[in-house]
Amino acid sequence: MENRTEVTEFILLGLTDAPALQVPFFIMFTLIYLINVVGNLGMIVLILWDSRLHTPMYFFLGHLSLVDICYSSAVTPTVVAGLLVGDKVVSYNACAAQMFIFAAFATAENFILAAMAYDRYAAVCKPLHYTTTMTTSVCACLTAGCYAGGFVNASIHVGDTFSLPFCKTNEVHHFFCDVPAVMVLSCSHPHVSEMVLVYADSFVICSALLVILISYTFIFITIFKMRSAAGYQKALSTCVSHFTAVSIFFGTLIFMYLQPSSSHSLDTDKIVSVFYTMVIPMLNPIVYSLRNKEVKSAFRKVVEKAKYSLGS
Ligand SMILES: *[C@@H]1O[C@H](CO)[C@@H](O)[C@H](O)[C@H]1NC(C)=O
Repeated sequence: MENRTEVTEFILLGLTDAPALQVPFFIMFTLIYLINVVGNLGMIVLILWDSRLHTPMYFFLGHLSLVDICYSSAVTPTVVAGLLVGDKVVSYNACAAQMFIFAAFATAENFILAAMAYDRYAAVCKPLHYTTTMTTSVCACLTAGCYAGGFVNASIHVGDTFSLPFCKTNEVHHFFCDVPAVMVLSCSHPHVSEMVLVYADSFVICSALLVILISYTFIFITIFKMRSAAGYQKALSTCVSHFTAVSIFFGTLIFMYLQPSSSHSLDTDKIVSVFYTMVIPMLNPIVYSLRNKEVKSAFRKVVEKAKYSLGS
């Protein structure tokens, strides 16, 4: 308790010290964030607005967009502000809040991706039972479970991190309050709790990954056995884009977390973090929608309607 009171705020050292990079990074991240918010909000509005998109797949996609906005909004504005003003001071509570929101929604995203894989599995491999397996209440329960999992995980991690005494330094070598970056500042040796968390997380992440891998294995087997070229094309096109997004997300996540923080340098961590906190949430709407005829036609309808009402 005595030790902990010594740190009342943290200083985020940010992405880079190089003065020449501040402005380009500022412009780049602002743009990425705008595309991210516009793209994901657009997806949500489109899904709510077009009744043809009121299916389980788009229900999950809508939540994926929501989660993308939430967790990148917990991080990107801080980063952009940091590039503008240099080192950024955040209070102890703000740091905990940022860590919590980010962890909760990033974890929910893992689970939603797994739910989406299961949904595609049900649609492609068990099409006759699809309407009875993916009912509205099943979708609602799965989604609620995803968010609940996120909040539980965030509570554990934030509770664990902030129960450690901080006294060495309050300089966070990162651009936001992420668990590993804050944990290394603790003056007690974080190894035991860190190891417990790494193992618990590996287990949960591996389970989510397993659900995804098994689902896609069955999906690809089913697709390659399909007789009709049209069905083959359709199934393949939705599933390949899902699979791309999932691979990018879990690839970076695994690289980042399935090793204790001492074994990799924080600079590679930062680059990986830029990827999954900012770039991936921006890519999701693009990956999932641009190759998808239903979304494109819903989008065209909105544009037509807008033109029509502007014209009259
Ligand atoms: C739980 O949150 C932590 C902290 O952000 C994260 O490293 C971990 O991957 C999350 N666990 C799961 C299963 O997503």
